[in-house]
Amino acid sequence: MEGNERPISILGFAGSLRKGSYNRMLLRAAAQMLPEGATLEIFDLEGIPPFNQDLEQSPSERVKEFKAKIRAADALLIATPEYNYSMPGVLKNAIDAASRPYGDNPFDGKPVAIMGASIGMTGTARAQYHLRQSFVWLNMFPVNQPEVMVPFAPNSITEQGEVTDQKTRDKIKELLTALIAWANRLRQG
Ligand SMILES: Cc1cc2nc3c(=O)[nH]c(=O)nc-3n(C[C@H](O)[C@H](O)[C@H](O)COP(=O)(O)O)c2cc1C
Repeated sequence: MEGNERPISILGFAGSLRKGSYNRMLLRAAAQMLPEGATLEIFDLEGIPPFNQDLEQSPSERVKEFKAKIRAADALLIATPEYNYSMPGVLKNAIDAASRPYGDNPFDGKPVAIMGASIGMTGTARAQYHLRQSFVWLNMFPVNQPEVMVPFAPNSITEQGEVTDQKTRDKIKELLTALIAWANRLRQG
């Protein structure tokens, strides 16, 4: 753990509610190959209602829970699908809801890493760059590399949810290592 007493706590969430989601599988694979010096809790975005700014001063219990978990985490790991060349509404909605009301942004200053799997050939690249754009205003600190983009997901992830492709597994491990190192650096100030 290189001098830090406490492991880095990572909160992971996937931008898909689908039971067989490839992106949920990426998170599960990450949990199974977590390097020493970190913990990973996976939060399900199910139950976060469509954001309505009229109600932002009284968020739902699920949104409160999500915000508390973000706040408590040392780092975030987001697995995003790509929908119509961008991030899915479920993910954007959850981020929008958690970021409000103005002045109560739990993402502020958080280290974050992104990965994504799609059935298309670009492996969520476009979704990931849109997500990175939101990090600017949220004042998050993203890991730049490696970029974990898994194209043609059924070739790398089985229906049982196992990530079988060794290169993909190596990239996920590399991303986790980079996120933990980055979070440790930021924690030291
Ligand atoms: C509304 C919608 C839009 C999609 N748009 C894209 C896209 O732009 N690029 C892509 O590679 N796949 C696209 N797909 C296919 C997704 O890659 C595929 O559904 C994937 O399994 C979603 O991630 P998940 O398995 O984590 O739910 C789209 C799927 C849906 C339902």
